[in-house]
Amino acid sequence: MSTSAVLAQQEALDLLDPLRPLRHPHFDDDDDPLLPAQPPSIPNETTHLAFPLPPFYTAADADADAPPGPTSIHIKLAVDPTPGCGGVTWPAGEVLARYLARRGPRALAGKNVLELGSGTGLVGLVAALLGARVCITDQAPLIPLIHRNVALNRLSPSLCIPAELNWGDPLPASLPRPLHLILAADCVYFEPAFPLLVHTLTQLVPTPTPPDLNAHAPDPEILFCYKKRRKADKRFFALLKKHFTWTDVRAPFRSHIPGPLTRHTIPPPPLQVIDDPNRASYARETISLLTLRRKR
Ligand SMILES: C[S@@+](CC[C@H](N)C(=O)[O-])C[C@H]1O[C@@H](n2cnc3c(N)ncnc32)[C@H](O)[C@@H]1O
Repeated sequence: MSTSAVLAQQEALDLLDPLRPLRHPHFDDDDDPLLPAQPPSIPNETTHLAFPLPPFYTAADADADAPPGPTSIHIKLAVDPTPGCGGVTWPAGEVLARYLARRGPRALAGKNVLELGSGTGLVGLVAALLGARVCITDQAPLIPLIHRNVALNRLSPSLCIPAELNWGDPLPASLPRPLHLILAADCVYFEPAFPLLVHTLTQLVPTPTPPDLNAHAPDPEILFCYKKRRKADKRFFALLKKHFTWTDVRAPFRSHIPGPLTRHTIPPPPLQVIDDPNRASYARETISLLTLRRKR
């Protein structure tokens, strides 16, 4: 069968069963056993996740006489598959959450953030615990679970705002402005939604119209974490390419920890910009962490 016939057949099957793509862990292997590589979850289960903070946040960034700060962000997460596939955490979500924590509070504090297709809200919750004001969005059935997770993590509902956003629909009024950061993890899996997601991204980062050309605020950063499952995903990137370019994320990184952390730790080495140090491990899982930029 030709590639286009295979893709057309996959689209037809996806329409009948929208979760079908997520049940195939390897993009080229449609004969693989079903269900993703993650522990099974049951309704009303609560999990605990921890994501390390940057090494120097706890010592050199703090006052020399202050007690050491936390070394990780801890999240309590209610998971519940009942409202849909987003009711459990997905691999790209965990990669993006880990990356945000690694950037640390200095990078997120005071920022206005939007998460698309949040599912449990994991990534947005990490951003909020790092000090950002976050609008955590998904389709209506997931919103009660996100509210629950905001409460479980003792986040203020005025700083961590769950909101319904169906891709392709008008943007929610509760969106914090100006928007500094857009997050999306594991949102490429259902072909009929590909143009809708691209449309929402273009709404969020509009091209400036002629009278506004000089007054245009900087574009928000878009962190897009994607797990490649199927050849058909390339249709999403073909659509995305009309409006955006992308590159792998590179992270500010300090190269080593000079001995045990003490109250009088020697100053940290200078920041370098390198590839995300966790990249090799998630690349093995066919996960990419991308920065999208609107074409001008
Ligand atoms: C595979 S889950 C990923 C959830 C979460 N980002 C994570 O990484 O754990 C995909 C999410 O996209 C949401 N989604 C799918 N189609 C959508 C649409 N048309 N509009 C808004 N959200 C959508 C689903 O409800 C689901 O929560």
